[in-house]
Amino acid sequence: DHAALAPTPPMGWNSWNHFGADVTDADIRHAADELVSSGMAAAGYRYVIIDDGWQGQRDAQGELHSNTKFPDMKSLADYVHGKGLKFGIYSSPGEKTCGGYTGSLGHEAQDARLFASWGVDYLKYDLCSFRRHLDGKTEAEQTAMMKAAYRLMRQQLDATGRPIVYALCNYGWGRVWEWGAEVGGNLWRTTDDIRANYESMMFNANAQLGLQRYAGPGHWNDADMLEIGNKGLDEPETQRTHLTLWAMLAAPLIAGNDLSAMSADTRDVLTDKEVLAIDQDPRGAPGNRVMQEGPIQLWARPLADGTLAVALVNTLNHSLNATLDFKALGLTGSVQAHDVWQHRDLGRIDQQHVFEVPSLGVVLLKIGKPQAH
Ligand code: GLA
Repeated sequence: DHAALAPTPPMGWNSWNHFGADVTDADIRHAADELVSSGMAAAGYRYVIIDDGWQGQRDAQGELHSNTKFPDMKSLADYVHGKGLKFGIYSSPGEKTCGGYTGSLGHEAQDARLFASWGVDYLKYDLCSFRRHLDGKTEAEQTAMMKAAYRLMRQQLDATGRPIVYALCNYGWGRVWEWGAEVGGNLWRTTDDIRANYESMMFNANAQLGLQRYAGPGHWNDADMLEIGNKGLDEPETQRTHLTLWAMLAAPLIAGNDLSAMSADTRDVLTDKEVLAIDQDPRGAPGNRVMQEGPIQLWARPLADGTLAVALVNTLNHSLNATLDFKALGLTGSVQAHDVWQHRDLGRIDQQHVFEVPSLGVVLLKIGKPQAH
């Protein structure tokens, strides 16, 4: 049962957004240490994922070896597991990964067995050079080829008997959200790579519109890894906006910052219990942007307890006053409201209630069931 691997959106840390391919065994061990010491592990960030750059060459038997930066993968996985965390790794259905390292094409079964023998709990499988094989094909053929490639690796992972979360990465090609779950994916990237700036982050969030119905418990739209805390997305308000939108979307939360140099601000944002609870809400229904007026966006997400998470997003670089569009939210009269980032009950509010939304920031609320009176 693949869905049981990810009942809520996976949470963890991945090496790519900070280290790129310049990542070592020691970096991964430190990241595992710091996930625990920072409180992130306790907040739910469980997967430590090595992205591109760990691979060496295949030997005469076709067995893939890690490169000299990763002298002993099994011992590294044991170290991560010893911290109570899960271990993730990266490969490609093509001959080469996006960074030009060895991919799994033609060696899927062998690589799946190798990963399982190391203790891998999560595989990110990135299209990369597989794209070459799609050249000159019709769209329908391309989609069929991608489906087959992704299904093949899922089958090989299953054959190992080890439960492995499967993260598809094909940048949304062939409308992957329509078939990602069918080929056994637990999450799938829907866009090109996120960058550490506000515009890129907002672009990726807004690119999820219309895809809500494809995600739910076990299978999630992946808006890409977090840039929270990386230079360019390290201001208090932009960090809060980033986590808020990913929580509204029920997106996987895979941190990508340098945990060894994390500011208190960044740590507080990444570990905010109330915001994480929205992302991890057991109903697993992604939210939607229900209104956009000038620089203000209004997002809403229905939660398991019958309340509504509501985010006012200010895309201007000065603060703005805004009211909630009750009609767009399906509300009338007045409702109980709780300010999530402030951890504060606001009592009953109505349509007239004015919120000051900070520059490039958000107001995130939990709104009670409307009461007739
Ligand atoms: C692609 C992916 C990124 C990262 C790099 C690694 O660009 O989308 O997330 O994995 O490859 O080379």
